[in-house]
Amino acid sequence: MSTILVTGGAGYIGSHTCIELIRAGYDPVIFDNFSNSKPAVLARLNRITKRNIPFVAGDIRVKEQLEAVFDAYSIDAVINFAGLKAVGESVQKPLEYYDNNVNGARVLLSVMKERKCFNFVFSSSATVYGEPDSVPLTENSPVKRANSPYGQTKVDIEFMAEELQKAVPDFSMILLRYFNPVGAHDSGLIGEDPRGIPNNLMPYLTQVAVGKLPHLNIFGNDYPTPDGTCIRDYIHVVDLARGHVAALEHCMNRSGVHIYNLGTGIGYSVLDMVKAFSKAIGRELPYRFAPRRPGDVVQCYADPSKARNELGWSAQKNLDEMAADSYNWQKNNPNGYDN
Ligand code: NAD
Ligand code: UFG
Repeated sequence: MSTILVTGGAGYIGSHTCIELIRAGYDPVIFDNFSNSKPAVLARLNRITKRNIPFVAGDIRVKEQLEAVFDAYSIDAVINFAGLKAVGESVQKPLEYYDNNVNGARVLLSVMKERKCFNFVFSSSATVYGEPDSVPLTENSPVKRANSPYGQTKVDIEFMAEELQKAVPDFSMILLRYFNPVGAHDSGLIGEDPRGIPNNLMPYLTQVAVGKLPHLNIFGNDYPTPDGTCIRDYIHVVDLARGHVAALEHCMNRSGVHIYNLGTGIGYSVLDMVKAFSKAIGRELPYRFAPRRPGDVVQCYADPSKARNELGWSAQKNLDEMAADSYNWQKNNPNGYDN
């Protein structure tokens, strides 16, 4: 079976994807520098999968470290989750974001080219669509200049992959545009473990639910939406992980550029999320309305039909499962991973 190098595999989405890769018969090799994850995730993954998943500590910007992995394993494809992802931090530290994300992807692609490993799966984002002209978003919706350095690294890496594919046509560039990943594995053993006060809605909600934060601040209730709060396409991380497997199965060794939206196609408002979460925990979650957050798009949700038609993949888990699994993870691990 094929061996898949999972860079950033110790992180939130990467760890869930390793489980689904194993379930589908692939052999993942995790490569991570733990800049935003903890070694404890590896033992949890081994417990869930009853396997000893190979792990290599390293940084995708360091060519020799990547070459050592390609020397040690016969890698058939790479899924690149390794990246920094905090929108606000990227505004403060743009050079770090370009270096880690864009330069990291450049080094990784150069090693792949050298080693003739031509299957590249990239964690892109709906952020490449900017403020959408219309929803739902298809893969043909215009890609715009992003409104943060983080978002621009996604646009730039997509372009770099496309340009390289033109120059080296053997490459299969699989660009997956995630909508809003939430939820956790139903074992409660792995999940999202942000540092400090969470920036994103779901981890913030889970911390309110376990009493670590007093209430949710809802950023804006005067948007032109039915209840005045912003709309997003929240997708369960296990569905998202399965989307990677489906994309690999369809696109591996099929040269070209393959772009897919990974979302559910359903837009929920912030207040819908609060309701679903309150239902999952059996009591009302406290919230307050606060000013709009600069840079927020009003509504963003996918047309997921291309992935359904071509990959045979669609999201299966509903909002109640997303809320229940997020809460289960947080409840079992109030302080996230220990180390
Ligand atoms: P995460 O921070 O949990 O995982 C990223 C992993 O990459 C971490 O384990 C981190 O230690 C590692 N890493 C970072 N830089 C590295 C480097 N230079 N070398 C080696 N390892 C490195 O984030 P996530 O939520 O799992 O996101 C994974 C990818 O998906 C990221 O590229 C992110 O931008 C993208 N994405 C995430 C979301 C989201 O909402 N979570 C949405 C769209 C796209
Ligand atoms: N929100 C609140 N209160 C909070 C946190 C968020 O009201 O404490 C609201 C936001 O204003 C937004 C919605 O909840 O309306 C979702 O916010 P998130 O931060 O969870 O998600 P975003 O859609 O803003 O951002 C996500 C990723 C980014 C990525 C972007 C587009 O976090 O990395 O999707 O793909 F760039």
